[in-house]
Amino acid sequence: MKKQDVVQLVLGKQYQKNPVCSFAKSFAPTNIALCKYWGKRNQELNLPITSSLSVSLAHKGATTEIKVNDKDYDVIYCNFPPLKKGDKRGILIRHPERSEGSPAQQEILSADSPFAKKLIEYLNLFRTKDSHFFDIYLETNIPIAAGLASSACGFAAMIQALNHLYDWQLSPQALSILARLGSGSASRSVFSGFVEWHMGDKIDGMDSYAELLPDVWPELCMGLLIVSDQEKTISSREAMQLTVETSSLYSVWPKQVKKDLAALKQAISAQDFILLGQTAETNAMSMHATMLSACPSITYYLPETLVLMKKIWQLRKEGLPVYFTQDAGANLKLLFEEKQLKIVSELFPKIEIIKPFSSL
Ligand code: DP6
Repeated sequence: MKKQDVVQLVLGKQYQKNPVCSFAKSFAPTNIALCKYWGKRNQELNLPITSSLSVSLAHKGATTEIKVNDKDYDVIYCNFPPLKKGDKRGILIRHPERSEGSPAQQEILSADSPFAKKLIEYLNLFRTKDSHFFDIYLETNIPIAAGLASSACGFAAMIQALNHLYDWQLSPQALSILARLGSGSASRSVFSGFVEWHMGDKIDGMDSYAELLPDVWPELCMGLLIVSDQEKTISSREAMQLTVETSSLYSVWPKQVKKDLAALKQAISAQDFILLGQTAETNAMSMHATMLSACPSITYYLPETLVLMKKIWQLRKEGLPVYFTQDAGANLKLLFEEKQLKIVSELFPKIEIIKPFSSL
């Protein structure tokens, strides 16, 4: 089964209909998994081996604007991913300051940039071969260096904008399924708040979508601790596949996830911060343990990552309830409650703090 077949299933009679307007815009928050998605049962459809649970980062995310253009190619203006030296002109145009940016100020990524390719392949799922093309403005307001999932919010914002453009009037569940085809974690970014992505077990993935949990936790804070803005040496997509294929520890991962998901849901409904923090941290460490035991071994740790971890563990020993989670990058995301905000800001002067429920 191909992505195109899923799009056809979800859109039904609306498949390959023409846009009903010439412009649409949408925002989607990025999300941080407290119980990670690591491993696919189907790579084409981004179907996961386990369920996962995340929290969306309120106003931090991506805004997408789509305009039908009169060209015979797409033009993508984008402020991520960071431009690599030597990248040449082509379809994907990066715009650090689009509002004032004259074309001369714009930097252009090559058409064979993997990111441009991914986006264009995604758009191709929704249009007939030689129909309309788009000008797309994709802008994130998350620190690019933080290794936050820009593709998660990027694809979620994109599918929401397409939903307006074509007036499909899809349910959040259907949008989540379509966002997943872009990037697995994007399935969770169509919601704000605590979100569970159900793994599902159907071959077509029609039961693999995210759902919003009803709980809110206004005191919950997340702090971004950036130790490196270097590009990762291996993408999460490749790393998770290599882990599934070669790590002897991977066989215990699904069991760990089951346990962690139950604990997290309990922590969220009881607003038990210690349980939440401990579970999220253990889950992240376990995910990284599966990578360490892959062949060849994968690690996203930098020396500074370990220094930070030790600092956090020491602070906990001294009685400060702070925990962390880590994704496929060297940076850490600190978890704590609002009452610790002042002390945390003093202890980590460069931290960027986000309150996931501040705008709900
Ligand atoms: C470590 O969603 O980026 O952030 O489905 O291949 O696009 P693809 O992978 P992606 O992987 C995210 C991995 C993670 C954990 C998580 O967000 O759950």
